[in-house]
Amino acid sequence: MVTSEARRRSPQGSWTSRLAFVLALSGAAVGLGNIWKFPYIAGVNGGGAFVLIYLVCVFAVGLPIMMSEILIGRRGRRNPIATMGLLGEEESGNRKWSLVGLLGVGGSFIILSYYSVVAGWAVAYIFESVSGDFAGANPDQITAIFGGLTGNWVASAFWHTLFMGMTVFVVVRGVVQGLERAVRVLMPVLLGLLLLLLGYSMVEGEFVQGLIFMFEPRFDELTPTGVLSALGHAFFTLSIGMGAVMAYGAYVPDNVSISATSVTVVGMDTGIALITGLVIFPIVFANGLDPAEGPGLIFVTLPLAFGNIPGGTIVATTFFLLLSFAAWTSAISLIEPVVAWVTESRGISRPAATIGIGVAIWALGLLSVLSFNAMADVNFMWGTYFDSADFLTSNIMLPAGGFAIAVFAGWIMSRRSTAGELRLTNPAAYRLWRFASRFVAPAAVVLIFLNAIGVLGWLGMGG
Ligand code: PFF
Repeated sequence: MVTSEARRRSPQGSWTSRLAFVLALSGAAVGLGNIWKFPYIAGVNGGGAFVLIYLVCVFAVGLPIMMSEILIGRRGRRNPIATMGLLGEEESGNRKWSLVGLLGVGGSFIILSYYSVVAGWAVAYIFESVSGDFAGANPDQITAIFGGLTGNWVASAFWHTLFMGMTVFVVVRGVVQGLERAVRVLMPVLLGLLLLLLGYSMVEGEFVQGLIFMFEPRFDELTPTGVLSALGHAFFTLSIGMGAVMAYGAYVPDNVSISATSVTVVGMDTGIALITGLVIFPIVFANGLDPAEGPGLIFVTLPLAFGNIPGGTIVATTFFLLLSFAAWTSAISLIEPVVAWVTESRGISRPAATIGIGVAIWALGLLSVLSFNAMADVNFMWGTYFDSADFLTSNIMLPAGGFAIAVFAGWIMSRRSTAGELRLTNPAAYRLWRFASRFVAPAAVVLIFLNAIGVLGWLGMGG
């Protein structure tokens, strides 16, 4: 048996440096969740108080689970399914923990099948912006552009296909040649573009009003459901509970500090979400738009704002380029656990596995494309396929995976294993992590679950 002391090696290779891992992990974390979802759910939930709860959740629940996922991934050095089976066996003589990996790999597969469709719209919007379609457009025209894209399954499928092709293109090349090279370029570009837009919104937007909206806690506007959706969003935005972070953890060199990396990535992800909010809300207010617009906030409202301001074509193009980059690096992290599992368990080459899986996800994604047109009335478990896939993953699979990971790292793994992997020099920091992993994170996840199945609403505590 390979002991953990003998240090395993991942068959897929390894990140070449700490920086490469930080970039890859922040690329996975920063995506549609930060730029599309965060502003709209913050807007819907009234801003300040929601943002505060989200911040608490990210640091008290998300950060310890991210550390647990990386440490499990690095200790196992296999795909999430094999790693959970291997460590389950070592730590408790029970290989059934591999089911947690299976849940994650299955979840990644399903998330990508709808994520890719929204990401496809973002790519389409780069071209809409460049061609000047938003310039001087009124709300009806903008709504018609968005409706024309989502309502026309051929157009939507085209962009979805293009985006899946981009994702497969990178992942085929493997850990260093593909993932690392892509994120090394994409992450700094993303940050640069975002700061450029921030400068723009400071000059052209109602910046102070945006600041107040985002940071003044008005608790009367926050419902129990809002609190729980802040917690749920902490999972989604950090990509935790899915095995994506575990898969990336398998490629982390032994000398990299898990805690320092996690703090950096969580900080970066949160920072990018907050900066995005500070880009969007000042523009929303300067143009008399509604912050509680909903999921259409960036696809309908922002083009409207951009279309009616000087230099709007360039700003809009930059924005959707940024969104596509962010979605791309997240999509790469969503397909990677599935690819690692298939190559390691079936002995299929990485290119063949990636292309095969890419086609399968693409095909499932067509149901998401059709959810906005031909199949808009077909009811899956929770509405259209698109809505159901989102509900199943965000409200059920992700919290279940996060709960199991926290319990495994906190209760099943020995102190010796976790302390040996985390190597925290400060004993208080280790105790804090263990407490969070054993108690805080599992308890918080149980709350999300109760919310998802409506028990809190039934008890009159939530919605
Ligand atoms: N964190 C990504 C985002 O904010 O867009 C989405 C995501 C990626 C969720 C990878 C889960 C995952 F495993």
